[in-house]
Amino acid sequence: MWQAKPRLDATTLKFGAVYTDHMLQVSWKDGLGWTAPSIDPLGPISLHPCAQVLHYAVECFEGMKVYKGKDGQLRLFRPEMNMDRLARSAARLTLPKFDKVELLECIKELVRVERDWVPDAEGFSVYIRPTMIGTHPFLGVGPTREAMLYVILSPVGPYFPSGLKPIKLYVETENVRAFSGGVGNYKIGGNYAPTILPQLRGSHLGCSQVLFVMQDGKSKGGLVGESGSMNIFFLIRQEGESGELELVTPPLDGLILPGVTRDTVLKLARGFGDMKVSERPLHFDEVERASESGRLLEVFGTGTACMIQPVVGLVMKDSEITVPFDGDAAKHWLAKAPGTAALPNSSSDEPLSLCGRL
Ligand code: COI
Repeated sequence: MWQAKPRLDATTLKFGAVYTDHMLQVSWKDGLGWTAPSIDPLGPISLHPCAQVLHYAVECFEGMKVYKGKDGQLRLFRPEMNMDRLARSAARLTLPKFDKVELLECIKELVRVERDWVPDAEGFSVYIRPTMIGTHPFLGVGPTREAMLYVILSPVGPYFPSGLKPIKLYVETENVRAFSGGVGNYKIGGNYAPTILPQLRGSHLGCSQVLFVMQDGKSKGGLVGESGSMNIFFLIRQEGESGELELVTPPLDGLILPGVTRDTVLKLARGFGDMKVSERPLHFDEVERASESGRLLEVFGTGTACMIQPVVGLVMKDSEITVPFDGDAAKHWLAKAPGTAALPNSSSDEPLSLCGRL
């Protein structure tokens, strides 16, 4: 008989290891459309061994979070952006269209059912994982005829076992994460599995993640991309008399995942008004030169799972760049932030709250 799981002490939570009691699910068939969504006890799903997802990685997903505020209210962080991105990823894989407003309402209902699971410790939340898979049992490579959309919830703490403490990244130049004309800008499972082996190489050198740097034939170091689980930012003091501060992240040129946290940091940093904020190609040589002359001030990753993750080392096979960051990046940025309500929504210039209150 089904029984609710016992609650755990929030502060001991590891990322992605505990799930709440229920899941949302809804199925789709070509010609018939979507079934009615249901919220059921979390449990295994049954798939035909020939389901497209198992052979051709017909799968896309989202990462969202719900936080409990100091006022006890639950808030989703910029959830419309996740619905938009899921729709784009699904379209790229020929997975079916869905009503973004309705899906968000269903997710809110699931969160309401599981509201007791949302931790109130700082830095803790419930991670929401909407997932869409091609379930059609067919070994030919062709458009999806049957699909399933499900949403599971996982109470989480920081993504990396070190917490929000700074990590090192392994500079990966042999394997690429994305390429021009590819699918690097979609949130699909197929973009993540190939990052695990390079990550393992880096872990032998004390690194928690990889930073993909793509050889482009134009520079010795190559072009900075993103990390296996996060977008990447560099705070650099420019050369010359002005010594201007510049916050740089690679542009959304088709190779980079359009991260919700990335977008948030860009909007907040532009609002600070005390630094130049650039989305531009960044060659690794520039990072090395900045480090050599003491102008590389800060490096951090951004992502829903990892939030804002300080980076203190960029490790190569035979050398290492040390980043002179001395503190807790998340707190440092939060202290400067004017509050999320002051941020513009992605699709409008009107100031409005980023947080969907439940
Ligand atoms: C997220 O940040 O939500 C992601 O999907 C990254 C994943 C590696 C956990």
